[in-house]
Amino acid sequence: MLVLRTYDQVSAALADPDLSVVPPPERDSALGWLRSAVCRFSSGAAHARRRALVEAPLRALSPDALRRRASGRSPETAAVEVLAEALGIAVEPAVVLAAARAYLPPVEPTPADDAAVDSLIAALGGTRDEPTAARACVLLQAAASTAALIRNALPYKDFGTPEAVLTETLRHSPPIPVMRRQHLDGTLVELDLVAANRDPAVFTDPETFDVSRPNNHVHLIFGAGLRPCPGDNHALAIAAGVLEGSPR
Ligand code: HEM
Repeated sequence: MLVLRTYDQVSAALADPDLSVVPPPERDSALGWLRSAVCRFSSGAAHARRRALVEAPLRALSPDALRRRASGRSPETAAVEVLAEALGIAVEPAVVLAAARAYLPPVEPTPADDAAVDSLIAALGGTRDEPTAARACVLLQAAASTAALIRNALPYKDFGTPEAVLTETLRHSPPIPVMRRQHLDGTLVELDLVAANRDPAVFTDPETFDVSRPNNHVHLIFGAGLRPCPGDNHALAIAAGVLEGSPR
């Protein structure tokens, strides 16, 4: 496996059309079906079509309203609760969190993970089609990453405004440490986001948590280039609401 660690290498990889998402191993289960039907693991026309199914409902949500709804919620469940409510999805957060455990490779799924995804699809109406997969995808993509962002930001919550703290947290203590891609020739490529966001060629004194850093917003934690995260503003709004509402 090729590992990319500098900011420039990782940025270039995210924009390189010869690098695609790594196809997950086939699995004859609800999890296997879900992975085969979401934008996250798709390419080309299927990716564009499936991505449009997640972008349209997300565009209709107001970040300010998400932020207000998130205040006072638990860091672990805020994203799932707030997004499910805003999108009109009736599902227990525990069902989403269980299904999220093995959604992203390289976690090796267990039969319990397959059953958890089955329960999530059932809660979404039980139809195995792309609109259902898209609704599951939004909740699963949001769940663990937003919870990790809030968890990583909480120790710094008094260092500045929620926006400033969250931006520097994404750079300094990212909720997603690595991304993976596969080259057309089959080579697996790992993008080390922690190293790239602490590249001294881009960030002065990179180990220091500094909310007044002028360029911390250029972090690469929401992806970039060909398939950036469509929920970045939603994640930030929900995380800001939880930070604001957490005890001093
Ligand atoms: C701190 C929280 C979050 C982080 C750091 C994050 C980061 C990312 C990254 C890096 C990707 C691209 C993965 C790749 O190309 O390999 C991605 C994809 C995605 N994210 Fe997020 N995300 C977060 C929260 C959210 C939220 C709250 C939502 C929904 C409201 C969301 C929805 C998605 C979706 C649907 C994709 C797949 C996009 C595609 O394949 O075209 N994410 N996210």
